[in-house]
Amino acid sequence: MIKKISFSKPLKGEITIPADKSVSHRAVMFSALAQGKSIIRNFSSGADCHSTLNLFKQLGIQTEFLDKKTLWIEGGTLTGSNSALYCGNSGTTMRLVSSILAGQSFSSVLTGDTSLSKRPMQRIIEPLTLMGAKITSLEEHAPLTIKGSLLHGIEYNSPIASAQVKSAVLLAGLNAEGYTAFNEPYPSRDHTERLLKYLGANIEGTRIYPSKLFAKDIDIVGDISSAAFFIVAGLIVKGSDFVIKNVGINPTRTGILDIIKRMNGEVNVFNKRELSGEICADIQIKYTEALKGCIIEGADIPRLIDELPVIAVLASQAEGETIIKNANDLRNKEADRISCLVNELRKIGVNIEEREDGFVVRKSELKGNAGLECYNDHRLAMSFYVAGLICKNEIAINGFEWTKISFPEFEELMISLYN
Ligand code: S3P
Repeated sequence: MIKKISFSKPLKGEITIPADKSVSHRAVMFSALAQGKSIIRNFSSGADCHSTLNLFKQLGIQTEFLDKKTLWIEGGTLTGSNSALYCGNSGTTMRLVSSILAGQSFSSVLTGDTSLSKRPMQRIIEPLTLMGAKITSLEEHAPLTIKGSLLHGIEYNSPIASAQVKSAVLLAGLNAEGYTAFNEPYPSRDHTERLLKYLGANIEGTRIYPSKLFAKDIDIVGDISSAAFFIVAGLIVKGSDFVIKNVGINPTRTGILDIIKRMNGEVNVFNKRELSGEICADIQIKYTEALKGCIIEGADIPRLIDELPVIAVLASQAEGETIIKNANDLRNKEADRISCLVNELRKIGVNIEEREDGFVVRKSELKGNAGLECYNDHRLAMSFYVAGLICKNEIAINGFEWTKISFPEFEELMISLYN
């Protein structure tokens, strides 16, 4: 689908951001493992989270929607499936489910779409194998064949900061002999630790002991990674002033808010509250004329990894230079988010330079007048849309339908702010 976007009027009003994708995945997975029946409210309508849900149905879990975003799920015993379990486009599904299946008494095969089949799986195969898992891959990629076996705990020092690797190790630890601990260079998102604790697991920080989970209702906070497109749009579209409600502000995810402060952006976080072990708040965004460039590196990176494409758009409106370093893993996302981003943003006039581990952006006038390819990547599609809102001339985005992966409501919500 080709989507055309042109210069926007100021964004005004109020929106409620839909459910967090990471938390939605985990809510289904952990409720499926827990004893008893739970209600999950405000579940993501993104295709990725529905891949997780369908996969657990295939593993024998009973679940039903009560309305569009509310479902009940009855946890307990998983049963093996004779057919392959399809993870679609979702890396979180494949990496976390692999570890859940590694400790079962049956064998499974996990497959994914073309993009997921190109993504690295050795990062989870290695620690899980050290725990006794039996996983074979196609040269370190999906399809993965997992022969259920008895697992034992390890203390794992991960070479990369990754919530997916951490979650895989901790979830395997739920069902392993002895304790399991995980260390990483910088803290990554901690939704797994929070939700496991909420459901009764014996976990302290990133050390887990074999535990049983007990079903409890889960209310899912809004996704700050989805809110990021609106936050950036509000900061760069002249005259904008609006409120985003119900945004998850878990400190391991709020890198974007810290960076915006560093850049002089006007963002006001208020009405903080707790929801099922997470924290959420409302956020007011105002157009900011005097944005300034900054350096984003090291511990910043895991706290805003998914926001980097739209941060590149923001940086194009900031005085001076914005330098992104230590973000090599961006090349392993749904697309190579460094080279694809650089190639496409250049077409509309962004002064952006590719580096091995990131990119450098300088203040630019966005002329537009180009067609952009989103490489089947939902976050690139939405980042380009936000850039389109400040382009002098119309732009066209090819593959815009990929927004369905995390945020099907994206365009409707954006239009509600500028109409
Ligand atoms: C996620 C972790 C991050 C993130 C992804 C979701 C998760 O990936 O990019 O969109 O839900 O755990 P990595 O763990 O590979 O950094």
